[in-house]
Amino acid sequence: MSGAEGRSPAEAGGAVDRAGLLAAYALPDRETPRVRMNFVMSLDGAVALGGRSGGLGDDADRLAMGVLRTLADVVLVGAGTVRAEGYGGLRLRDENAEWRREHGLADEPRLAVVSSALDLEPEHPFFAEAVTRPIVVTHAASDPARRAALAEVADVLVCGQTAVDPIAMRDALAGAGLPQILCEGGPHLFAALVEVDAVDELCLSLSALLVSGDAGRITAGGREHARRMRLVHAIPAGDLLLLRYARAAPVARD
Ligand SMILES: NC(=O)c1ccc[n+]([C@@H]2O[C@H](COP(=O)([O-])OP(=O)(O)OC[C@H]3O[C@@H](n4cnc5c(N)ncnc54)[C@H](OP(=O)(O)O)[C@@H]3O)[C@@H](O)[C@H]2O)c1
Repeated sequence: MSGAEGRSPAEAGGAVDRAGLLAAYALPDRETPRVRMNFVMSLDGAVALGGRSGGLGDDADRLAMGVLRTLADVVLVGAGTVRAEGYGGLRLRDENAEWRREHGLADEPRLAVVSSALDLEPEHPFFAEAVTRPIVVTHAASDPARRAALAEVADVLVCGQTAVDPIAMRDALAGAGLPQILCEGGPHLFAALVEVDAVDELCLSLSALLVSGDAGRITAGGREHARRMRLVHAIPAGDLLLLRYARAAPVARD
């Protein structure tokens, strides 16, 4: 068989390895507060398959995700993603924890969830199976009793009056010694970050799947607001494409 349809995944894209990805996703510095998004998306733009993202990815995508987590100070997710994906007990592979130790970092990044409703039980695996003390990011108008209950199992950051203010959140995390933020979604949180121009990078795995259905996009619910990004790399990994985009123009920060 010849032509594109006859190629194996390896012929189509080639293999990726952890060392190559650590170099490809290296941060310019660890001090400047930075919000890096990581998403996987189908070729026809779906953010989920069967309501979860896992079915869209493959081993290369998971390898890249492990590398991105290894480089992060904190992994940030919206409460919708925690509820849909059952986030909990995230633990890096031994070689990634070792890489962090060698680079003067704690073994594991912290894990943070953004929520207004605080509809998360302290017994949820996100808290109960956490390997480092989790962080809850909320705002001043959220339910004080729920906040107090979650403060038993997590550090609670109050950022904003009636919604979480993404800039205040980024600065509060940086102030807590966590300037390198890896945000793993979901779409509503991404849109909130885009809206205030808080997204520095998008690391997007383009999965070689057409899924149709009615899954949403990787952003949802925000006001339309175009932000230009520039391509940093496009790494084929089999039929999947690892894309890294950075903001087109740096913003001045104090
Ligand atoms: N393909 C991928 O890479 C990927 C990644 C992540 C998620 N997903 C998929 O996305 C779906 C979930 O979507 P989603 O939009 O519900 O996820 P989400 O953005 O993680 O969660 C939305 C929730 O986050 C909280 N939130 C977000 N922004 C906020 C703000 N500015 N202030 C206060 N709270 C804020 C709110 O929580 P409360 O309701 O608690 O107030 C809100 O309801 C799932 O199907 C999941 O599998 C896909």
